[in-house]
Amino acid sequence: MYQLALIGYPIKHSLSPWIHTNFLEKAQLTGDYRIIEIKPEQSLAQQLDDIKQQSINGFNVTVPYKQKIIPYLDKLDDEAKHIGAVNTVIYKNDQLVGYNTDGIGYVRSLEQAFPSLERQKEQKRLLILGAGGAARGIYYALMQAGYRFIDIGNRTRSSAEDIATLKMMSVHTNIKTLTEAEEKLSEYDVIIQTTSVGMRPNEDHSIISLHQLKPQSIVSDIVYQPIETKFLTDAKSKGAYIHHGHTMLLYQAQYAFELWTNKRISLNDMDKQLKQILEES
Ligand code: ATR
Repeated sequence: MYQLALIGYPIKHSLSPWIHTNFLEKAQLTGDYRIIEIKPEQSLAQQLDDIKQQSINGFNVTVPYKQKIIPYLDKLDDEAKHIGAVNTVIYKNDQLVGYNTDGIGYVRSLEQAFPSLERQKEQKRLLILGAGGAARGIYYALMQAGYRFIDIGNRTRSSAEDIATLKMMSVHTNIKTLTEAEEKLSEYDVIIQTTSVGMRPNEDHSIISLHQLKPQSIVSDIVYQPIETKFLTDAKSKGAYIHHGHTMLLYQAQYAFELWTNKRISLNDMDKQLKQILEES
């Protein structure tokens, strides 16, 4: 019997219960995945004690606790340590251990959609747009996965420089302004939009113009409301291949579920189902 949960606030509309309940069914495991809202005025320490009393096996962590939870954990895996944020916790042998599955989930979703990337990752030139928490996780996971040319374009240079402090020796990273990124777009094979620009209700916004985009490049956006952002629609019209943000949601959950249960669930039709749920919401 797996007792799983999500902590955060507000989380009433989270898609994680739908995803993990599906995973439990597919894995033929009994259990449940519940929502534990922790309001800002409540004590996180107290709530974590309650969670331990309830013998929960593991839980996801979302805003505003991804960083705040760190001091209460007994151990942190390397990924979470470098990213400085936790989205998944295992509770075992009286210890809370923190992980971050966002970056690895993102890379899985990208390589699943474009298997040819896996064979050529050392040659591919990637550009990450944005330098927030999501960009940090994606940058680190891409590097760990073997990509070697990863530039970062951001409005504020210092945030991008901060991410680049994670750089491994074998990796090349140039920091660009958004204007420079826009002008040099034809140099990139994969462009990854990691900011909230273009998210509902600002569907008509796009972080940069794609005039210089190389046809047949891959353009990815982690925003999934709307399912297809203006950024992706523009990219498609320029002849690029596009990668939708909702798939990252599924793959970060796949990896979290794997950490809790040791089972990797095939996503099959969940991609289409999630797309439909999001389109109807
Ligand atoms: P998250 O943790 O979800 O990634 P975040 O930490 O708030 O979110 O990061 C937001 C990112 O989106 C930042 O890179 C931010 O740019 P700055 O570093 O210059 O603040 C970027 N961002 C947000 N709104 C933006 C906008 N309107 N134009 C350009 N970049 C924007």
